[in-house]
Amino acid sequence: MTGVTITGWGTALPEQVVTNEDITTLFDTSDEWIFERSGIRSRRTATGPFVKPPPPVDPPANGLGTTGTLAAEAGRKALEMAGVAPEQVRLVIVCTTTPDQLIPANSASVAAALGIRSGAMDLNAACAGFTYGLVTASGLVAAGAERVLLIGAETLSRATNWNDRTNAFLFGDGAGAVLVEAVPGEGSLLAWDLGVDGNLVPLLYAQHGSGMVMRGQEVFRRAVLATVDSATASLERAKLTIDDIALFVPHQANIRIIEAAASRLKLPPERIASVIQRTGNTSSASIPLALIDAIENGRVHDGDHLLLAGFGAGMTWASAVWRWQDPPGR
Ligand code: COA
Repeated sequence: MTGVTITGWGTALPEQVVTNEDITTLFDTSDEWIFERSGIRSRRTATGPFVKPPPPVDPPANGLGTTGTLAAEAGRKALEMAGVAPEQVRLVIVCTTTPDQLIPANSASVAAALGIRSGAMDLNAACAGFTYGLVTASGLVAAGAERVLLIGAETLSRATNWNDRTNAFLFGDGAGAVLVEAVPGEGSLLAWDLGVDGNLVPLLYAQHGSGMVMRGQEVFRRAVLATVDSATASLERAKLTIDDIALFVPHQANIRIIEAAASRLKLPPERIASVIQRTGNTSSASIPLALIDAIENGRVHDGDHLLLAGFGAGMTWASAVWRWQDPPGR
């Protein structure tokens, strides 16, 4: 069995910062209400009412205005850091729920931007997408793929109904990428859990051409349960307890969901990775953004056990126990 490790990483965020004060110009709300209910102060957006000039349209423009350009920028940084050439990558997986177009997959333009020709596909498991992608990439590496560039990238600003005050403040845009490489032995992925309950589609969805519709309280309740149950399953499979976890890297949907899940798992606040205050919910990008922020702030050390856990529309959920290995030379 070939194991996996992460040898490079990178992020990309659009330039436009949208504060809660900005949001108050759209509908009746306040910075205090948004922060208290979600833990969010600001988010970055590539499209939407605060982006000037108007959002780019097909074909996707340069800059960080699309899911594809954000993904390519994050992916380029991950390859650069790992010192890996595009021709050494066997597959690009772009995890996204907001692709720039219906056909083809977003990963095609990302592969082109990066000079990769060996294979590319999209993966949509909503906000659980990155963890689904990490498990998929690890499986493909075990099957001989050697190096998989895994990217979570979103322009949720495009799927947001900016007139809906019950959820428009939650979402943001961005991308995070990791290079997943083969290593001898067990590697970093110690255990994982994936799940879906497709009967819950009506809780959170967006139809073609219209914005997101969400039953917030029900999503909240189920998100806490799904995160805790999935994390517990992964821990059991890894034969570890919560005390072995150095850092919890949850999907960044809402700080109250994160805190409720952490409290049920008996994880103290200092062992939680969070960027939600300045990114909002970036769906597939949120776990890599939180993970990379923690790495770059010296919160992740060689040998640490990380617990990744996400949930999203579908509903989907996913978790993984990852034993961090510092890449050579770091
Ligand atoms: N500003 C001010 N007041 C608002 C508001 C806003 N933006 N949006 C709704 N309200 C009002 C409501 O009208 C309601 O008023 P009422 O009591 O007079 O009827 C009140 O605030 C409470 O609304 P409610 O929907 O019960 O709020 P909540 O505590 O459930 O918080 C969410 C709303 C969206 C923050 C919360 O449900 C949530 O975080 N859900 C999970 C969302 C999520 O993470 N989704 C992504 C999953 S991947």
